[in-house]
Amino acid sequence: MRLSLRFIVPLTLALGVIAYAVAPLVDDFTLKWFVRDLDIRTKLISATLQEPLADAMTADLSPQVRQQRIETVFGRIIQDERLFAIGFCDAGGKYAYRTVTLPRNIACRPPGSPAEDAGRVHHLAGGSLHVGTHPVVFEGTRMGELVIVHDMSFVERRSADTKKYIVYLFAGIGAVIALITVVIAELSWRGWVAGMKALIRGQLLAQSPEPRAKELRPLARDLEELVRDLETERRMRDESQMTWVPETLRTILRDDLKGDEILIVSNREPYIHVHQGGRVEVLRPASGLVTALEPVMRACSGTWIAHGAGDADREVVDANDHVQVPPESPAYQIRRVWLSKEEEAGYYYGFANEGLWPLCHIAHTRPVFRAADWEHYRTVNRRFAETVVAESRTPNPIVLVQDYHFALLPRMIRERLPQATIITFWHIPWPNPEAFGVCPWRAELLEGMLGSSILGFHTQFHCNNFFDTVDRYLEARVDRETFTISYGGEPTEVHRYPISIEWPLQGLAAQPSVPDCRKAIREQLGLPPDAKLGVGVDRLDYTKGILERFAAIERFLELEPAWVGKLSFVQIAAPSRSSIDEYQSLDARVRATAQRINDRFGAPACPPIILKIEHHDAGRVYTYYRAADFCFVSSLHDGMNLVAKEFVAAREDERGVLLLSQFAGAARELPEALIINPYDTEQCAAAVGEALTMPPDEQRARMRSMRGLLQEFNVYRWAGRMLLDAARMRNRRRLAAGSRLQLAATGGRRA
Ligand code: G6P
Repeated sequence: MRLSLRFIVPLTLALGVIAYAVAPLVDDFTLKWFVRDLDIRTKLISATLQEPLADAMTADLSPQVRQQRIETVFGRIIQDERLFAIGFCDAGGKYAYRTVTLPRNIACRPPGSPAEDAGRVHHLAGGSLHVGTHPVVFEGTRMGELVIVHDMSFVERRSADTKKYIVYLFAGIGAVIALITVVIAELSWRGWVAGMKALIRGQLLAQSPEPRAKELRPLARDLEELVRDLETERRMRDESQMTWVPETLRTILRDDLKGDEILIVSNREPYIHVHQGGRVEVLRPASGLVTALEPVMRACSGTWIAHGAGDADREVVDANDHVQVPPESPAYQIRRVWLSKEEEAGYYYGFANEGLWPLCHIAHTRPVFRAADWEHYRTVNRRFAETVVAESRTPNPIVLVQDYHFALLPRMIRERLPQATIITFWHIPWPNPEAFGVCPWRAELLEGMLGSSILGFHTQFHCNNFFDTVDRYLEARVDRETFTISYGGEPTEVHRYPISIEWPLQGLAAQPSVPDCRKAIREQLGLPPDAKLGVGVDRLDYTKGILERFAAIERFLELEPAWVGKLSFVQIAAPSRSSIDEYQSLDARVRATAQRINDRFGAPACPPIILKIEHHDAGRVYTYYRAADFCFVSSLHDGMNLVAKEFVAAREDERGVLLLSQFAGAARELPEALIINPYDTEQCAAAVGEALTMPPDEQRARMRSMRGLLQEFNVYRWAGRMLLDAARMRNRRRLAAGSRLQLAATGGRRA
């Protein structure tokens, strides 16, 4: 309605103005028209008067009688309201007879003037007069001429009326045209908008065929691009503008995901209940995955489905195998899945950790593939899929599948919950196609993973390796421009999401000051107060390069003997996967190497290597980070490595040096660390020397830069980006479903 008024009023006014402009032309035209009428009328009157006038003039009458008779005729004729006056000019050019109404200033024409066809218009003070002259001829003799004067005021009155009507007419026509235009425009606009909406839903979102109207096609393409750009821009802008804290995740869940259900699936549970000293204790496992996801889950609530591996796990769950955690202030629940010893041996120790783990880590440990392990792997993946279905309260939950234990799970979930949004994150590296190709079940693994809606790796390098692998072993459409792989049903987006840590680290608040930590740890280790201390924190795993690290310390002391007795390197190694031969052998080699080095340089007060193969809780690890002069991360291959990030986060004093392997994903984000190649013992030894002698200012500058990055790219952002991508995907699907419904309502026709 408002649109109509906005359109009609100006158009009407515009036409009114035009009418005013046109009116003088019309005026002029009508004036000419009336003058022509008066000319004809004058001729007619003149012709009518010829005979009585000639009669009166030739009759034998006295001049007074003649004058009286003629002027009586004239007087009768000017009874006509428009005829104003009549006069007769004799051959000498003087009025012989005239009505009294004839104005003095209308003179006779000079004798001999040519006959006139058209009259003249005289403008006088009181108005205009039309003056026409016509000769009076009797028997071939020109006796004089008649002057016939018409009052033109009626013409002016009519002209004014005409002008008024023309303005009204134009304004009226304008209003009608405007109204018709608005009605048509409204109808077309609605049709157009409906067309565009259908087009966006149908073409852009459902990737359906070309839009119905041909003329909309180029527009559709432009619009698609625009929407895509805006979307990307929005995501980038949102991401960089957001402050990433737990509340941000809650906001995304509430606003972008509209409170949708979230389920996490991982092998390792975030809290393990074990019997210790006759009591049930709760342990936090040494796992990068758990470290990263636990704060996310605390922020999001939801259900975490994991293998119940603790020997007291069954004792604390409810009838549905649920336990609320964290024990001190429950925020979410764990759903425990039970595995038999054989299943655990085949699925976890066998296929996952003797097969996939060395397969994906290029650490030169040969992968072992056994058919029996593969069977267990499939069975356990199936059991977790059933648990996901049982736990989901809605048909379209968001399922966050974690790591290489569950390569088959995404497709199994997809088969049971086709509307679920499945985000799989692969926490370890993805190798090149040749390396991956040795796995006898490579195609099945890839097919399983491609059941995901989104597949995440830490680095673009791992994403690219995955694209290459799929390209090599599957008949799939790999689109590296849109980072999408289409295989069978729904496409899978493959993106890089570098994992991180919470910021600030929760446990830091309870930590003593850095000087107190330095003092306490040195006292506990029995070191002199001024001893330099390096620290390594890992699971006891052959991918971590612990032996290479020891070799670097040994070489450094060899090259710089002055440091013997002044430097200790403490290696905290959480026992891991210890029933696997490789790990047992590593354990033995690590112990032996530490012993050998200590024996070689052994100084009673300050041993070169202090080895602690035992579980340390997070708080204890932070105290070590704060007490150390440097932290040594020498992974032979690592997806990310969160120890590097935790060390930086723990150093609020902006001191300490990080030595970081170039083969850890973290090296891409933390180039201010001393980047080393763990296979290059000489280089690593030199880096140890550099760390020990680095000036405080340089330490501060490097630390400050790394801390700035971690603050910005923390674990909430890692999870938030995946959730935002999931939200975007779900939104598209909702819209696409809308367009399909529309199609169904129109009998599936796309006109
Ligand atoms: C790596 C893997 C995780 C695993 C963790 C600990 O970080 O990516 O999936 O949980 O190591 O290993 P574990 O076998 O003890 O769970």
